[in-house]
Amino acid sequence: MVFLNGEFIPKNKALISVMDRGFLFGDGVYEVIPVYDHKIFRLDEHLNRLQNSLDSVQITNPYNKDKWREILLELTTHSNNVNQSLYLQISRGADTSRKHSYGELTPTVFIESNSLNPRSKTNLENGYNAITSSDFRWERCDIKATSLLANTMYSQQAKEHQVEEVILHRNNYITEGATSNIFIIKNNTLFTHPTGNHILPGITRDLVLESAKHCNLSINESAVTIDELLNADEVWISSSTREIMPITKIDKQAINNGKIGKHWSKVYDHYQQLKHA
Ligand code: PDD
Repeated sequence: MVFLNGEFIPKNKALISVMDRGFLFGDGVYEVIPVYDHKIFRLDEHLNRLQNSLDSVQITNPYNKDKWREILLELTTHSNNVNQSLYLQISRGADTSRKHSYGELTPTVFIESNSLNPRSKTNLENGYNAITSSDFRWERCDIKATSLLANTMYSQQAKEHQVEEVILHRNNYITEGATSNIFIIKNNTLFTHPTGNHILPGITRDLVLESAKHCNLSINESAVTIDELLNADEVWISSSTREIMPITKIDKQAINNGKIGKHWSKVYDHYQQLKHA
């Protein structure tokens, strides 16, 4: 079952117009929200970010928070998975002809649930591999927009290189991953790019900062250089579907001698507690 414009229907019956601006222009925004033990995790934070994305592109939010909660909860009950990942997208809607500018349209709302299988700690002994690439995305990376052409190009590059993430840099400074936020640890301090228009303000990013503080790491929200990344004690990525993952090899160069780090291990454990709190 998926949710489309007010109805719960089978996925193969969920159809939209070819004039939908989400299809023609990628004119829409989205959220990915994890569900653990049937409970939607940090829903309020995701709905606040959704509102910011909608406001940035002038799409009217079709529902209030209570209605969103009701719809999302109902959708989770249609799945047998205890852990789920909710994909929610709102496009500007369908027009009568293709033109770049827009008028008042009825937004198209689509939501589906997928199973969420975060890798267990023991599965993570080797960490992830990554490559670096220049960040050629636009200047509004803070909007969670469905126009993801650059990100799909990076993900394909990752697949071709058989690595799990592409780490992006602008003017020699690390911004974020193609589908995640990035953290580096050096001498008991955690560094991550500050929020602003060059990164997505990840909901998991906030949780990593909360967990890192709890584990007595100092926090420095400033960007690091490519050199500092490659010479870090530890490198992590975070996202709603991948939680917090250690990166042990970047551009074929080992980080921390290719071993997952002690700080990651503690922060990961604290994050697991937050999930079930
Ligand atoms: N992506 N930065 C980018 C570019 C992302 O695409 C994502 C998440 C994040 C992390 O945000 P959060 O912690 O709120 O998931 C950062 C999702 C999972 C996706 O596109 O599927």
